Amino acid sequence: MKSFALAALTILSAASAAPLETRQTSTEFDVTGFNAGCVPHSSLCYFNLNAAVSPSKSVVCSASALSYEVIPDLAPTACNDSSVSFSFTHVEGGADLEINWGYDAGRNLTGTHFIADSEIVWTNTQIPTGTVQAYDGPADFVIGDLQAIAVL
Ligand SMILES: *[C@@H]1O[C@H](CO)[C@@H](O)[C@H](O)[C@H]1NC(C)=O
Ligand SMILES: *[C@@H]1O[C@H](CO)[C@@H](O)[C@H](O)[C@H]1NC(C)=O
Repeated sequence: MKSFALAALTILSAASAAPLETRQTSTEFDVTGFNAGCVPHSSLCYFNLNAAVSPSKSVVCSASALSYEVIPDLAPTACNDSSVSFSFTHVEGGADLEINWGYDAGRNLTGTHFIADSEIVWTNTQIPTGTVQAYDGPADFVIGDLQAIAVL
């Protein structure tokens, strides 16, 4: 699904009696091609996704992390456009994939997609050795419920 709803984000200037400032920002991040997993017989795991954070800005996010067989946490890592970063954090029952877009000076939009433990599988193609974790959920999904962060 490639539709974006646009919302007017109204920000009141605290410094003066300036009129309200209106900005157009996204209300959804459109993720495609998400995958994550670990490489058999190595200590390497990887995360990849494409994201349209607005109708006019698409980014590619890729990271690798050292871990043996088990998908680890990923600290916030810049995408190919450094105004966008992504992270992967294990939480109760699964993991949070977060995308954080600094769309203007001091202003970010973040969104989180929950990945259930059931979407992380052990590959068994190389039993008895070489079994590793891999993401086995949908590659494409929309992240809604974006949160605005204003950094003063
Ligand atoms: C990042 O990758 C996307 C998709 O290939 C491309 O459209 C965009 O221009 C790239 N951004 C930068 C800053 O290189
Ligand atoms: C805003 O986004 C940028 C790029 O993802 C990130 O480096 C920065 O830490 C973010 N700031 C906050 C407060 O989340």
